[in-house]
Amino acid sequence: PGGDAAPGRPAVLRMLVPANERPFWLPLADSFAKARPGVRLELEEGPVPTDLRESLTTSALLSRDGTWDLVYLDVTWTSKLAAAGWLLPLDDAFGEAERAAFLPQALAAGVFRGRLYRIPFRTDVGLLYYRADLLAAAGIAPPRTFAELETAARRLQSPPERWGFLWQGAQYEGLVCFFLEVLHGHGGSWIDPETLEVGLDRPEAEAALALLVRARGAGGVSPPGVTAYREEETRHLFQSGRAVFLRSWPYVFRLAQREGSAVAGKIGVLPVPTLSGAPGSGTLGGWGLAVARASRQPEKAIAFVRHATTLKSQRLFCAPTGFAPARRDGYADPELLAANPFLAELGKIHASATARPVVARYAQASDVLQRHLSAALAGLATPREALAAAARETRALLGEPP
Ligand code: GLC
Repeated sequence: PGGDAAPGRPAVLRMLVPANERPFWLPLADSFAKARPGVRLELEEGPVPTDLRESLTTSALLSRDGTWDLVYLDVTWTSKLAAAGWLLPLDDAFGEAERAAFLPQALAAGVFRGRLYRIPFRTDVGLLYYRADLLAAAGIAPPRTFAELETAARRLQSPPERWGFLWQGAQYEGLVCFFLEVLHGHGGSWIDPETLEVGLDRPEAEAALALLVRARGAGGVSPPGVTAYREEETRHLFQSGRAVFLRSWPYVFRLAQREGSAVAGKIGVLPVPTLSGAPGSGTLGGWGLAVARASRQPEKAIAFVRHATTLKSQRLFCAPTGFAPARRDGYADPELLAANPFLAELGKIHASATARPVVARYAQASDVLQRHLSAALAGLATPREALAAAARETRALLGEPP
């Protein structure tokens, strides 16, 4: 696989993308083939959940066989892949001026121990969607605190036809993203990346997890099935009018507002709530591009990264999907704004996003948290027990020599 082409045949670059995004990558592969005759990008379809693609990518890069030239990676993957030496540093290829084109938080997610390994492609931040029509009809103001959210959700729901509040509750990375927003909204913390201090066994964390357990429990505002939901299950339910509130990412806005959606013209978006009512900080998400160190054609792979992150390419990918661009100029671009007017507002919300901790053992730390959150949601442990165990395991994990 990979390698330079035989004379007359184009060289092939290979990259793994989630199955649901592949159709939107094809136009970029086409425009690259035109801009750079003699090189072709081959897009392999991988699973949608980030955790699953992270393990696939890890095994492929571990073998250093050059299968993948390019890596399409989550904000949380950089530290591990860079620490293992599997990514090419891009500091020399992308100078100051080029880097300045990107949202600072998105760019920072590509830096590990002072070197740049990942160029941001699209960005994400956790948001609270709500049914503006239902709230207005009931004379309820858009909620700012967790208590207001719970009260409004309870008043406006009529389960099982319409639930109060949907979120990603399956045992995977999405649950961690949501839990962190509730945790930060309670003034709590998970892992301090500088000191490696773990905050999971503190009262703020217990209150945050208790909120999730209560929401999902008998008489709560979330369906019991929420513990099986990832992003798309929650979007489909919300979009068919079956929920009042939804915690999700920016891509939902355009899909929920388009023709044929049962909630088109009826939704609003808020920062995630907090205990105090101060605007909350959504989890920073997003995807970027890196070059595998084992690639036999790094120069061509870098050319693709550069091609995929021009404003023109951001239009090709973000306009039809509603994904949020990683470039700053994407938020003021008439073409992108015409396709998705929400971008104007989103640009501001992004600035307050909170990154997940940058530790090389991120995947394992997240797995520990996922398991214990799930145990509490399933009623197998109290929030306090679950978090005490998670804190213990996380400390042991972070204390191990790398
Ligand atoms: C989105 C985010 C990503 C996050 C994932 C969790 O894809 O961009 O950062 O890890 O959701 O499901």
